[in-house]
Amino acid sequence: MQLLKGKIKMFKKYFVHTPFVITNFPLHKKIKKDLLNKLDKSKGSSFKNKKGHMNDDLSKTDWPLSDNFERPWVKKYGGVIKDFLIEQAMHLGFTNINFSKLWYQQYKKHQTHGWHQHARNYTGVYYLEYPKGSEPTQFLAPQNLGKTFSLKVKEGDIIIFPSYIIHRSPPLKSNKRKTIISWNIDFEDIHPDLLFDREVNYLEDGKN
Ligand SMILES: [Fe+2]
Repeated sequence: MQLLKGKIKMFKKYFVHTPFVITNFPLHKKIKKDLLNKLDKSKGSSFKNKKGHMNDDLSKTDWPLSDNFERPWVKKYGGVIKDFLIEQAMHLGFTNINFSKLWYQQYKKHQTHGWHQHARNYTGVYYLEYPKGSEPTQFLAPQNLGKTFSLKVKEGDIIIFPSYIIHRSPPLKSNKRKTIISWNIDFEDIHPDLLFDREVNYLEDGKN
């Protein structure tokens, strides 16, 4: 850092649109009960971290096992979640995904997951159990980090968004448990239809 001090003369921020996907998992009603039963029986633990800017308080998660794809619930449902995400990848210009991590988080009243970001190129949330009084994931707007936004979601919805976007799960207001499944993935293998030369446009200052 010392070597660079005073030498960075130019810094421009341009903002380009980036996709946030919201969709509904078509098997939600069919699998909800069995998947929740499997999560009840799964290895997991509570998680609390209030150090520094961290503000995490979860009733149960298997995050420490998130790269183990031999867990019973992942063996049964990881494949169908992956197939569904590959379908979504098509809409974003890719033909495949690489699953890096897959895990669940459960919240009881007042519990929360503070501001954070993820690794890999996209992350996602499946609202498996989303009682009345739940609030959706909140995001810091990249074009104005002083502002937040949310997507209107309901139980059974899946949202997929770029992993670097800072977000949180606000404190749960419901007396009932909330459960989400989450993942870090890389969209891979650009769709061959996109691989052609085309006219290049330059971004202008202050314009999208
Ligand atoms: Fe997250």
